[in-house]
Amino acid sequence: MSEPINVVVTGAAGQIAYSLLYQLAAGSVFGPNQPINLRLLDIPVMMTVLDGVIMELEDLALPLLREITPTADPNVAFKDVAAAFLVGSMPRKEGMERKDLLAANAEIFKVQGKALDQHARKDVKVLVVGNPANTNAWICSHHAPSIPKENFTAMTRLDQNRAQAALAARLNVSVDKVKNVIIWGNHSSTQYPDAAHATVNLQGSTKPVPSVVNDDNWLNTTFVEKIQKRGAAVISARKMSSAMSAAKAAGDHMRDWWIGTKPGEWVSMGVLSDGSYGIPRDIVFSFPVAIENGQYKIVQGLPINDLARSKLSITSKELEEERTEANNVLQNK
Ligand code: NAD
Ligand code: LMR
Repeated sequence: MSEPINVVVTGAAGQIAYSLLYQLAAGSVFGPNQPINLRLLDIPVMMTVLDGVIMELEDLALPLLREITPTADPNVAFKDVAAAFLVGSMPRKEGMERKDLLAANAEIFKVQGKALDQHARKDVKVLVVGNPANTNAWICSHHAPSIPKENFTAMTRLDQNRAQAALAARLNVSVDKVKNVIIWGNHSSTQYPDAAHATVNLQGSTKPVPSVVNDDNWLNTTFVEKIQKRGAAVISARKMSSAMSAAKAAGDHMRDWWIGTKPGEWVSMGVLSDGSYGIPRDIVFSFPVAIENGQYKIVQGLPINDLARSKLSITSKELEEERTEANNVLQNK
């Protein structure tokens, strides 16, 4: 059994955290031999709710869960953390685009970036879930200059899981048979869910998804739009944004980053662009990544056709606009 690591979850009294905390405590993210101390950050008015969440965590009776620290102080929450799930922020309501959330949420990620800079381990792995996730991750990293920029990531794993599930349903196979679908760009309606490099395992043999689906119109329009609009569809039906699936995706993202991906397989993560695939630098853009020893690398050399190129350009432009907007919001505070 290893020494416990400190893990912070922000927005700990909220919906996503409610599902995420169980996964962390049960060992399904950091593994069955990794005890954890949980730091639970929320705002002062939520401390009583958080007390109830802590009672439930205690009542899980799970051996990997060691200390639990509820707090409204980022300086306490981020002390010596090895992993950070930045969930806390206002969710999108019906009719809002993620961009609308910048004004409400940018300041949170500035404050938390500074707290990470001062208090976290320098190798901390940061996953931003709170929307607009990509630009919030960018804000956070800019306010934490002592932590490497590659330690800040944004969640597009929910989009990947949605895309994988949609392809599996179309092909009438279980979801584990579909691999290597890619989410490019922003976690927003401009994202590009790309099945061009995806594979499906049919009776033990691996085949390219496009040739098995054999319907470019479905892949290039129906499929793409379904994934782009899925978050809005959940909000419209539930009157609240996705939470169970978002928490599962956050666990998947961190587990793969912590433990690694299998040879020949990749996952999508929002990471600081290094100019790969001609994407502008200094935006947090979702790329396919392969992970080994806790380090991810953007998968290189995948062919990009004209359609994909135009979609990549739309979503990268949106991220550049969000970056400008974030700078405006933070300067006017
Ligand atoms: P929620 O409203 O249920 O919970 C948010 C929690 O954050 C609340 O308890 C709130 O008090 C807390 N909070 C607010 N400001 C805070 C601060 N400064 N510090 C710490 N905590 C703070 O919302 P939720 O459903 O859990 O969603 C959280 C965020 O995740 C939203 O922004 C939502 O849009 C986003 N989200 C992202 C994805 C994704 O795929 N990236 C998916 C689903 C939801
Ligand atoms: C989602 O994709 O479900 C979340 O980001 C919530 C939203 O605002 O769409």
